[in-house]
Amino acid sequence: MKKITIAIDGFSSTGKSTLAKQLAQKLQYVYVDSGAMYRAVALYALNHKLIIDKKLNKEILISHLPEIKVSFRYNELLKASEIYLNGDNVNTAIRTMEVSNSVSIVATVPEVRQQLVELQQEMGAHKGIVMDGRDIGTVVFPDAELKLFMTASADTRAQRRYDELIESGAEVTYQAVLENITSRDHIDSTREDSPLFKADDAIGIDNSNLNKEQQFEKVMKLVKSKL
Ligand code: CDP
Repeated sequence: MKKITIAIDGFSSTGKSTLAKQLAQKLQYVYVDSGAMYRAVALYALNHKLIIDKKLNKEILISHLPEIKVSFRYNELLKASEIYLNGDNVNTAIRTMEVSNSVSIVATVPEVRQQLVELQQEMGAHKGIVMDGRDIGTVVFPDAELKLFMTASADTRAQRRYDELIESGAEVTYQAVLENITSRDHIDSTREDSPLFKADDAIGIDNSNLNKEQQFEKVMKLVKSKL
């Protein structure tokens, strides 16, 4: 069967990765979480003390870029890909609030974006890929056959992310999560390089009132119409 590229963009915690994983599993496609790649670079910057009080030392980060290697490896046991930073599995380490509070600043740096976008385009060179992020339908795969743009109310999104973090054992408050996603949405949509916006040919999906199954069914109809 013909393989297509599925680009999923949208605001923070809109359920992009849940949907992307469901689609990749059903279609036997590769799933790539592009946000994890930006998070890995942010983790590198934090580990190297390049971010202090939310201030990023851009010049030094840019000079380190040639030695920042981000990759994915499939974990047979988990039946999922995990992200590696310079050979270390950082799949859990990239999900902390510390990384969440720094990642959008790192993602404004054009040199960082260029390096990661190149990798993302290589991963999708043969289609059969579902990638989620902020600039997938606009910059990474402007020719994707199916583009989705996900939205949900800020409260719904903050509650979802708060529940996920609490379940994973993190100590956070709802207020801190809400502030983080609101602040990232602002930085992501107003940055100069590749801001988050809905591509003209993307289909908007507001899932504030849809459960996972309803959303998946709706999107599978769209996928079938493209195959
Ligand atoms: O926490 P959430 O799943 O909503 O975000 P993420 O997908 O893990 O992405 C983390 C951050 O990386 C975003 O807030 C953006 O600042 C940045 N990002 C980006 O700039 N471009 C992408 N294609 C993906 C993520």
